[in-house]
Amino acid sequence: MCAAPAARRTPALVRALLLLALALAALAAGVAAQRRPPLRARFAPLGDVALIPRLLDAAPLLDHRDSASLLSRILVPRVPGTAASQRVADALLAPFEASSKSGGLGWHIERLPFVAQTPHGKQSMTNLVVTKNPASPRRLTLAAHYDSKIMPKGFIGATDSAAPCAILVDTAMALDRALDAAERRWAKEGSGGDVTLQIVFFDGEEAYEQWTHTDSIYGSKDLAQNWTRSAHSPPHAPLVGAATLSTSRFSMLRPARHIDTIEHLVLLDLLGAKSPQIPSYFHPTAWLHDKVRSAQRRLLDAKAFWPPNESSRSGEDWFNGHSWGGIEDDHLPFLAGGVPVLHLIPSPFPRVWHTMGDDASALDYGTDYGWAMIMRLFVAEYLGLGPDLAATAQPSVRDAAEQARRAQEAQREEQIRAGAAIDVEPQGPRPRDEL
Ligand SMILES: *[C@@H]1O[C@H](CO)[C@@H](O)[C@H](O)[C@H]1NC(C)=O
Ligand SMILES: *[C@@H]1O[C@H](CO)[C@@H](O)[C@H](O)[C@H]1NC(C)=O
Ligand SMILES: [Zn+2]
Repeated sequence: MCAAPAARRTPALVRALLLLALALAALAAGVAAQRRPPLRARFAPLGDVALIPRLLDAAPLLDHRDSASLLSRILVPRVPGTAASQRVADALLAPFEASSKSGGLGWHIERLPFVAQTPHGKQSMTNLVVTKNPASPRRLTLAAHYDSKIMPKGFIGATDSAAPCAILVDTAMALDRALDAAERRWAKEGSGGDVTLQIVFFDGEEAYEQWTHTDSIYGSKDLAQNWTRSAHSPPHAPLVGAATLSTSRFSMLRPARHIDTIEHLVLLDLLGAKSPQIPSYFHPTAWLHDKVRSAQRRLLDAKAFWPPNESSRSGEDWFNGHSWGGIEDDHLPFLAGGVPVLHLIPSPFPRVWHTMGDDASALDYGTDYGWAMIMRLFVAEYLGLGPDLAATAQPSVRDAAEQARRAQEAQREEQIRAGAAIDVEPQGPRPRDEL
């Protein structure tokens, strides 16, 4: 190889390469801009975050100390293809199935079976996908894996990832009625609502032997492959009546590949142990990481972060810092397909990671509860559910006390009008200043 002629050629070559790089960058930016409308403007901060805990009692889903809770019921080995895995899938989907039976718009539920080639031969696995409005052109997709490691025998995986699965069920159920109200509002207004909530429970995340590119994340690989190949064709029957929710309003925005309907993938993993530290892993979603951090801070300020009987627990900041590079997990096939990813996984991993210690004893209810509040608030703000939330929140203890007081006063006035003796003070609960 001769160096001199190459050196003479370099400036022209560098200029050509630079021009090419610039052209490619401009093209990429153009394509990206076309595919993803600006989101930051759409993110709508909620005025009253104190209503977040009132959307739903988190304990029946998340309290692992109660053996009847959803989380307790999925704290079992759930190796792909086993009867236990199917029971866990049923338990995770049951609240979504119940939703439409109680008069709501319900969820579009998909069990997507596939066969994976593993070091232990062919294994049947099933991804679970639930979508509020499948006719919507875009999704905010929240995901966690519901399988557990085959080794060590009896491994539970409480943080890995039973607790994240239960947190996602809580998020969807807490916002269910507000999501329905929003769908109806968007249909009436004829605008908004081009993003819907989707939850994915991946099967087969864990390796059968040693974690490698081929022995891991079977479920996410299968789903991303399907959604990269397949065109997005929304069902013909819209969620809220054909006259109002026209699919034509989406047609300009409708992406070609199914995977392009995912506006962001938020992947939860290894959560549920005390005091996690979750850095931001990807530059394009650093702003969403900031939103999650802000959600935690505002919930703490409003005394709406910890469970009611732990409200004096001190504040924590789980989302400090960043760590560019990332961790191998279910997001990779989607990242490769061009989906921006927010990865909510602690660094370092929980102390009990991939040991028999990752069972119920690794979990902290206050932490799971706090995660649920963060996810509820984050999703509500992402989708702009503010106007729909206030109407669906349960009355708070304070509201209930205030209502009781008003009822008593009304009764007293009634007695005055009736001429009864009334020199007694109203009894019973009074609103307290601080709850
Ligand atoms: C691919 O994904 C679509 C949309 O979720 C689903 O309807 C279809 O059944 C999937 N196909 C396979 C083979 O999993
Ligand atoms: C909060 O209540 C639960 C039961 O509802 C109990 O197990 C727990 O110990 C209580 N925590 C505190 C700090 O009082
Ligand atoms: Zn794992």
